[in-house]
Amino acid sequence: MAAHTMDDAQNNQENGKVSPSRGQEQSFMRERIRQLELLLREETARRERADAAVRESESDFRTLFNNVPVGLYRNTPGDRGKFIMANPAIIAMFGFESESEFLATSVADIYANPEKRKQFSAKLSATGRVIVEPLKLRKKNGELFWGAVTANAVRDEQGAIKFFDGIIEDITDRVRAREELERYKANLEQAVFERTAELMRANRELQSEIAERKRMQKRLGELSESIISLQEQERANLSRELHDELGQQLTALRLEFDAMKKQAPELAARGFAESLSGMVERITEELRRICKGLRPSVLDDLGLCAAIGALTRDVENRTGLALDIDLAPISEHIVPPRVAIHVYRVLQESLNNIVKHSHADRAAVRLEQRGEKLVLTVEDNGRGMDAARAESGGFGIIGMARRAELCHGRIALEPNAPHGVRVTLEIPLDPDSAPD
Ligand SMILES: Nc1ncnc2c1ncn2[C@@H]1O[C@H](COP(=O)(O)OP(=O)(O)OP(=O)(O)O)[C@@H](O)[C@H]1O
Ligand SMILES: [Mg+2]
Repeated sequence: MAAHTMDDAQNNQENGKVSPSRGQEQSFMRERIRQLELLLREETARRERADAAVRESESDFRTLFNNVPVGLYRNTPGDRGKFIMANPAIIAMFGFESESEFLATSVADIYANPEKRKQFSAKLSATGRVIVEPLKLRKKNGELFWGAVTANAVRDEQGAIKFFDGIIEDITDRVRAREELERYKANLEQAVFERTAELMRANRELQSEIAERKRMQKRLGELSESIISLQEQERANLSRELHDELGQQLTALRLEFDAMKKQAPELAARGFAESLSGMVERITEELRRICKGLRPSVLDDLGLCAAIGALTRDVENRTGLALDIDLAPISEHIVPPRVAIHVYRVLQESLNNIVKHSHADRAAVRLEQRGEKLVLTVEDNGRGMDAARAESGGFGIIGMARRAELCHGRIALEPNAPHGVRVTLEIPLDPDSAPD
């Protein structure tokens, strides 16, 4: 804007130019005043707008301050501290009736332990900021609760702390929930600890029970081994006694009857002596058979294959069961006598069972060496054996299993396709595992 003054007009005259008239001067002044008024109005309108903006932002701040659901405050630093500002949420949080009542309370008094205020003020002054610090606080009615405080130290231009601005959130529920969780965890850990200890105790007891059972089983094994070998010895003794004592006497008796037969004058007496002699002959024959069964002397004298041959022949003759015998050549010296008697007895019991239970008319017996094993197989074509019958309370199968164990071997009784039962006895011939 071009602004001309009286001095300018004067100067123009002095510079030899023509001076403006009075009328011109007045109109110039009026124009100048009008321009100044315009400027003033613009300035006033700008100020009013700025005031309105300030009022509006103050009102926004107030609304926010009053409605925000966390406690907002401003207080002064120091051991006791004094509240300068507090929003309705913080006043309600601490159970005060009004802002003025709250502002009258010193900051230290809203701590559960007022001493803590001193520490908090010192820490905030030193660091300039604390973030979500849990503090135990006290309401107006004395009730304690947990608050999380986040605060800033506000400084003046010289750097001195003017006040603390902060927010408080009531975290009592969260703290309780965490305490509850900690308690629950501790209880759980205790329960797990106790249960583990209990399990370890039970495990120890179980281990010692297992060890005891193993000891008992071993003892039982030793016992049954000695029973079986005693039984074999007794059978051998009995067989010898019967043969030597009773056999001798029966022979003497038969000789007596033979003599009587020759000397008897009457025909009847001679016939009677003859029938008595025949009877003694049959008794002697039966006694021999019993002695053989008690202790197959052929086993000791001629070995396992010969003993099996004699046994199977005897069964065939006595029972009419047709037997296929397949004895592969086995070097007898690798089958120790203690093993041989068990193989013999297993075959004997298998044949007894076939005769007693199977209704078979044929059976096959095979003895062979497979690698380091001696294998006995007995198969029949009878009606087969179901589990119920296998558990019928007899001792034959149990005895066979025990004998297999004593030789470190194993025995299996299985169905024999298409009919009957197959008994397989396997005994290691390894000199280390085969007992002698
Ligand atoms: N070859 C077989 N065929 C059919 N059933 C069999 C045969 N061998 C055994 N069994 C069945 O298994 C059962 C058990 O046999 P095990 O030899 O243990 O006892 P047992 O012969 O009945 O009596 P024990 O042998 O004590 O005189 C028999 O009662 C029988 O029912
Ligand atoms: Mg039997």
